[in-house]
Amino acid sequence: MPEVAFSEYGKAMTATEVYYDPYDYSIDADPYPVWKRLRDEAPLYHNERLGFYALSRYDDVLAGLLDSETFVSSHGITLEMIGDEPIGIPMMIMMDPPTHTRLRKLVNRAFTPKAIDRLTDRIHAICADLLDPLVGAGPFDFTKQYAGLIPPTVILALVGFPDGFAEEFREEVDSTMHLDADVDPTRLGPPKRVLVDTAGEIDSVVFSMLPDLIKARRAQPEDDLISALVHSEIDDDEGHGRTLTVDEIVGFVQLISLAGSETVVRLLGFSAVELARNPDQLQILVDEPGVIPNAVEETLRYDAPSPIQGRWVARDVEVHGTVIPRGSKLALLNASADRDERHFPDPDRFLVRRDIDRHLAFGYGTHFCIGAALARLEGRIGLEELIRRFPRWEVDEDNLQRIHTSTVRGYTSVPLTPLG
Ligand code: HEM
Repeated sequence: MPEVAFSEYGKAMTATEVYYDPYDYSIDADPYPVWKRLRDEAPLYHNERLGFYALSRYDDVLAGLLDSETFVSSHGITLEMIGDEPIGIPMMIMMDPPTHTRLRKLVNRAFTPKAIDRLTDRIHAICADLLDPLVGAGPFDFTKQYAGLIPPTVILALVGFPDGFAEEFREEVDSTMHLDADVDPTRLGPPKRVLVDTAGEIDSVVFSMLPDLIKARRAQPEDDLISALVHSEIDDDEGHGRTLTVDEIVGFVQLISLAGSETVVRLLGFSAVELARNPDQLQILVDEPGVIPNAVEETLRYDAPSPIQGRWVARDVEVHGTVIPRGSKLALLNASADRDERHFPDPDRFLVRRDIDRHLAFGYGTHFCIGAALARLEGRIGLEELIRRFPRWEVDEDNLQRIHTSTVRGYTSVPLTPLG
């Protein structure tokens, strides 16, 4: 007789049936065993209770990311926000071509490798300012005192906000994105507009500066993103040039500020934890700092900070012999793809010298992360400056704390003790 267990929801299921719930804190702490079972046993997974399908193998996730006509973003990009109607949030991550393409072209200009390279000295200085007082001062919280402050400081400066708001912004972002353990994901509707509600009320100290900043930069441009946005033109549907609306500028600044703050801190947190767990790998970086950029790629592959990309399915499509009906929600599990043994040999080992052809931590295709070069630069410099001052460390694993959101995975607290 097959072994039978009861799931938490009372439905009888065989002990071997795989169940995946992206909102379950215990699964989120270590989703890799479940994702491996999805890849092996249910490469097209269907969760009836939460009403979504999921693809977990590398080739399938890559194909899904590339097919932005079938798997669209304009209905939302987290499973709980996706619905039958377009979501109407003026952020390009939730737009489809051709509207997306027009905006993306415009903002690409602010994110060229040259523009990002210009931030190098500034990022070194930010890291040094944060780390120098910690030298010789014993244990510290790697995330709260260091990694969590680098990305908001950099991104707020790049956008054009005044200095001094990084800590406040970090707290605003973390509390806005947090989901409680007892949240019922089937009841979460579309989000309120993050930190700015639909009536334009701004519930954020940082974003409430935006209207004045936009006005000021219209009158007198500076070398920042707000200036670039207020003075740029895009083509409307008839091909006539027009400037961006205030709503579009606010939407874009919010997207960049949130995406740029929330992910890089998780990347750095994962690297501090994995390097403590693998001292031989840390030693390679101490001996050969030139390997650090590859260590950043390996960290992204090993633990993607943004592990699930949600899509709305725009036509019936057959995958692995089953039709996903039009109107379904689909999760593209890019973090699972990056641990797929069909693509990466020995995927569960963290190897800073690993030869990586292409990981999917930044997504791929239409919505490939616009901040990838900046994230890589912050990751590299963040680690270089750390390792220069602290060549060995240990992490108090019992007191690691995680963020719980539907989009980002990683640590909010990493207690770290420098050694030797
Ligand atoms: C380690 C750090 C980062 C990771 C892992 C990451 C991950 C991602 C992923 C997976 C996507 C694709 C989303 C999708 O397909 O729906 C994306 C898009 C995006 N990211 Fe990042 N990101 C990071 C850093 C940044 C930074 C620093 C910025 C801002 C400067 C940024 C801004 C954006 C924007 C604006 C998009 C939307 C692009 C579009 O729709 O064309 N990200 N990111």
